[in-house]
Amino acid sequence: MNTQTNTQTTPGNASKKPKILVARAIFPEALAKLEESYEVRSNQEDRIFTPEELQKELSSIVGALVAGSERIDASALANAKDLKIVANISVGYNNFDVPAISAAGVMATNTPDVLTDTTADFGFALLMGTARRITESEHWIRAGHWDKWSIVNNPLGMDLHHSTVGIIGMGRIGQGIAKRALGFGMNVIYHNRSRLSEADEKACSARYVSKEELLRTADHVVLVLPYSAESHHTIGAKEIALMKPTATLINIARGGIVDDLALAQALKEKKIFAAGLDVFEGEPKVNPELLKLSNVVLAPHIASATEKTRRAMVDLAIDNLRAALDGKRPPSLINAEVFKG
Ligand code: DGY
Repeated sequence: MNTQTNTQTTPGNASKKPKILVARAIFPEALAKLEESYEVRSNQEDRIFTPEELQKELSSIVGALVAGSERIDASALANAKDLKIVANISVGYNNFDVPAISAAGVMATNTPDVLTDTTADFGFALLMGTARRITESEHWIRAGHWDKWSIVNNPLGMDLHHSTVGIIGMGRIGQGIAKRALGFGMNVIYHNRSRLSEADEKACSARYVSKEELLRTADHVVLVLPYSAESHHTIGAKEIALMKPTATLINIARGGIVDDLALAQALKEKKIFAAGLDVFEGEPKVNPELLKLSNVVLAPHIASATEKTRRAMVDLAIDNLRAALDGKRPPSLINAEVFKG
């Protein structure tokens, strides 16, 4: 399929309006609102652009709403002479080459805060589902294996209450998970690039430890750190070897932070108890070795996926775009040096 046939442009006297691109499908009401002010090239079919198509789409517009599927780098921006803003509908922005975007004089924005609680809720749900083997149990029932209640021969899980959770990446979402863990009487330890203030540590009752101590002592390890070249394979075979054989590993951060093949091998050999994964290396492809295992809970990158929160993310991205095109500072500007207010 090609973009020309599937990307819709607002009809009518749109030519007087500034041209923008909506690179992924969004809520129809939000699109209709945008069409009141802009000539919109929209991709409601939700097809992922090839790099060549993206470069072409960006060449004729002043603003773009994009998501993690759109890699915005020097090549994507090569012909984007009129572009003023790329507004990510996502808090993570590892799809942005920020220095290249700034060098092109383009503002870059993301959607922080509006998804913090929803994502922390999901991280906790994935932790519970993994430790207590909920999806595995459901598959077991559906396969007709449940013939009696049993003290020892039903899926036995790991406790959350009064266990130790180790959070790697203690930003807003990590702190949200820590606060939820307190309600379960859990002991919270964390590791982060920089230590939290005393007040923030107190609010989460969290203790700062080295990555090694965290891996050795946590009963549940939760990953919430941003992806970068530095955080690539934060968890690989060497790190898993430090973990308790009874531990769980939860990744709601980004694919690439965990070496998925090493994890699959460790789960197969029962080096750790189980894993819960919302994000994958090379997603939407999932390493086939993970698909063979019952001690892993898989989710399709849905940590922020409630209707309310996805609407709030789209709305914030639109606020960012509108502000930039109106000459105002976007509320969640990443590269402040580009803003000429
Ligand atoms: C985010 O906002 O970063 C979510 O992971 C969706 O990409």
